[in-house]
Amino acid sequence: MRTFGCQMNKHDSERIAGLLEAEGMLPAESPELADVVVFNTCCVREKADERLYGQVASLKTLKTGGRPDVLIAVGGCIGQRDGTHLRKRLPHVDVVFGTHNIGSLPALLDAARQGRPSVQILDEGETFASDLPSRREHPWHAWVSITVGCDNYCSYCIVPYVRGHERSRVLEAVVAEAEALVADGVVEITLLGQNVNSYGRDLYGKPRFAEVLRAVAATGVQRVRFATSHPKDLCGETIRAMAETPQVCKSLHLPVQSGSSRTLAAMNRIYTREHYLGLVSELRSAMPDLALSTDVIVGFPGETDEDFADTLDLFQQIGFDQAFTFIYSPREGTPAASMPQRVPKAVIQERFDSLVEVVQSSAAACNERLVGTTQQILIVGRSKRDEDMLTGRTGSNKVVHVPARDVETQRLRSGSFIDVEIDEAQTWFLLGHPLNK
Ligand code: SAH
Ligand code: SF4
Ligand code: F3S
Repeated sequence: MRTFGCQMNKHDSERIAGLLEAEGMLPAESPELADVVVFNTCCVREKADERLYGQVASLKTLKTGGRPDVLIAVGGCIGQRDGTHLRKRLPHVDVVFGTHNIGSLPALLDAARQGRPSVQILDEGETFASDLPSRREHPWHAWVSITVGCDNYCSYCIVPYVRGHERSRVLEAVVAEAEALVADGVVEITLLGQNVNSYGRDLYGKPRFAEVLRAVAATGVQRVRFATSHPKDLCGETIRAMAETPQVCKSLHLPVQSGSSRTLAAMNRIYTREHYLGLVSELRSAMPDLALSTDVIVGFPGETDEDFADTLDLFQQIGFDQAFTFIYSPREGTPAASMPQRVPKAVIQERFDSLVEVVQSSAAACNERLVGTTQQILIVGRSKRDEDMLTGRTGSNKVVHVPARDVETQRLRSGSFIDVEIDEAQTWFLLGHPLNK
């Protein structure tokens, strides 16, 4: 399995893996050793597109080089968007499926095995992928989807076209899944939706995300996270639920996209710069320790120096813990793709670099403030850079490395919680030592 894109795709890949394991398959170490290669794809920006087409094309040599029986399946957002075109461009692909029918993959693979390559794309799904079996990447963490699709149609974004209309999953089903996961040893749940704050509007006539937070926290799970929040729908009730529920992690990803009200209007984001700043002060007065992260797009059509100055200023005012900075990428079929005033590449690059600088310095400053504090971390594994260190995450989602020798051996397992004191801060991680050996 190769997974690209957002957390929704990570979730779906765990379900695809679960389905295929139920069919008796096992994960392979590399494509060379695999009988079936599945790509779960993303098309949110042009780069993701290019990478996928490149990688799938390069697998052709696997088939021509003596393994003609290998099956290649492409699903996810590019599958949904390109359907039959994908097989025309890459005829060595055996199965193309979309975002609404991952449950059909075993049957499609069976057909391909019998010599019938197939493309199946549906416009809407009937089941939630969360109702399918799952093979979780970590035994202690689970993704739980509460909504699928998106009805917001931000003018730059392709997601509504490839993920369909927004649909919520009934609250009882969400809670039942969370209970079953806790019984199975899960300690951290991440609730998923393109816009979790509008959860329930289609089913109940009003948003009920705050209730989801409280109900999932009550299942006995130790940490609840969620993604993604839309500033137009994040309401006071949700802020209260976050603040009052200890299991809900005090970290929030709240994509701003731009600091200019004019650009936000052109993006169809339905909120202003002032609204966003107001939300942040409301959040911070309810939760002084809240870590805030965001997404931002640089070079949206028609973005002037003044618009960008507003973005820089907003970032300086807020001082985000983390930000994902993207260069605007035109997506065919979206309204922004046919907006005339493209920003020159060199201007975009200059703006991008100055924004990244502001982001790095605010991230470093946020981490610096944690030096000397005690934090509870959830161990996620050995550090990738240093075998002698363990890596964990705070509730605020900061990466912390601690020396493994200082941690009792029975607590070395990933998925356990330890208390640590923070000794040193870097821009993107912290160093600490465990308390109460
Ligand atoms: N539903 C989420 C995330 C959507 S995609 C949300 O509304 O926040 C993740 C991020 O990709 C977006 O927040 C946006 O910053 C970025 N993005 C989406 N379309 C893009 C495009 N055409 N060009 C550049 N960045 C884009
Ligand atoms: Fe895309 Fe906007 Fe929907 Fe997010 S809210 S997925 S950015 S259309
Ligand atoms: Fe990409 Fe699809 Fe997610 S386009 S960002 S994988 S919803």
